[in-house]
Amino acid sequence: MKLWGGRFRKSENKLMEEFNQSFGYDNVLYKKDIEGSLAHVYMQVKCGLLTEEEGKAITDGLVGILEDIESGKLPLEGNYEDIHTFTEANLIERIGETGKKLHTARSRNDQVAVDMRLYAKEKGSEIADLTAMLKDTIKAKADENPCIMPGYTHLQRAQVVTFKHHLMAYHSMFSRDEKRLRNALEILDECPLGCGALAGTTHDINREITSEKLGFKKPVDNFMDGVSDRDYLLELMSDFSIIMMHLSRLSEELILWSSQEFKFVEIDDLYSTGSSIMPQKKNPDGAELIRGKTGRVYGNLFSLFTVMKGIPLAYNKDMQEDKEGFFDSVRTLEMCLEIMARMIETLKVRDDNMKKAVKGGFLNATEVADYLVKKGTAFRDAHGIVGNIVIYCEDHNKAIEELTLEELSQFSDVFDEEIYDFIDYENILNKGIKKNLK
Ligand code: ARG
Repeated sequence: MKLWGGRFRKSENKLMEEFNQSFGYDNVLYKKDIEGSLAHVYMQVKCGLLTEEEGKAITDGLVGILEDIESGKLPLEGNYEDIHTFTEANLIERIGETGKKLHTARSRNDQVAVDMRLYAKEKGSEIADLTAMLKDTIKAKADENPCIMPGYTHLQRAQVVTFKHHLMAYHSMFSRDEKRLRNALEILDECPLGCGALAGTTHDINREITSEKLGFKKPVDNFMDGVSDRDYLLELMSDFSIIMMHLSRLSEELILWSSQEFKFVEIDDLYSTGSSIMPQKKNPDGAELIRGKTGRVYGNLFSLFTVMKGIPLAYNKDMQEDKEGFFDSVRTLEMCLEIMARMIETLKVRDDNMKKAVKGGFLNATEVADYLVKKGTAFRDAHGIVGNIVIYCEDHNKAIEELTLEELSQFSDVFDEEIYDFIDYENILNKGIKKNLK
């Protein structure tokens, strides 16, 4: 069945029909499509476009279709152009002639626009919740592990930090991500139903009624924008991309830290895999897949940016291409956020190895310079002096705190016994990270 055809002399070419079909993937919108139609029919009755009786028949028919889809009685398959065709065709088949009145004062353009907004609202808020859940999991792990660890810049040991502080950096990132999503959800919360194909309708409809019934804040301001706006998908997918970037950085750290070279953490067996040939291998595939899947989420964003960039107002069929990428990104985010949370929850933290790494990296060199500054040396001079001390330590295979006062005095005469407390790692943490932040 087709929703059009009256003005055609020939029927559609088979290949064209296949090319035009979106039912194979937009069928995930079935529930939103029915919800949108239920709101529309409710409004039609309120505005006198349908009798109560007609409204009831259509409503019952739509509810029946929904129940049958969910129970598996009505499979989402068959030769339909899209989900909207499927719903309407089944309605007419089920209730007869009255079903043909559902589409009064509506176009598929505002129908698909409202379906996608409803879907984006639901999935966007689920992903915001998952981001919040990951953030909480990270905080719990961080609180359990206040142990000292080397902090890095350029992947070279830099200054002493705590594992808690390192993990809480991700807590900050995911907190911003959650806020960004909630903000995007607020911006998109406008209802495009009632925009018609592009110019509204001459029927006396009421967009406030449908907007309210569907749980939107308000109807959109402009019909042409309402049917052709896909910014909200771009904004959500931009936010998804930032989340994936953060997940990918964290994955990269888990991969590095679980290598034999670092041995700072162990990823649980539950989220690791083995090698078919090397019996000793335990590979961090969960983290690697998250890092890898970041590519497709960026790709989906850029694909839609490119689809949208040259489209004149208002609706054009190009826009059907908004769907697969968005659905794929939603599924990818749902899985990646969940897997990351479980990997973090079950992560074993090797504080013994982190402590060892701190000792071997001159991670208190900056504080030696700070000490010299306190004693009146200019910072630039202090920096040079400590640089020389580091060379001396390397040559003698010693840590700075292992040098005697006599050895230190060769480099500056302001050193005294206080230096050892000053550059003690715990004391450094107490004065810096632990004093300035919770
Ligand atoms: N399947 C279409 C889409 O996803 C629905 C809208 C069709 N509108 C039209 N004028 N052909 O965009």
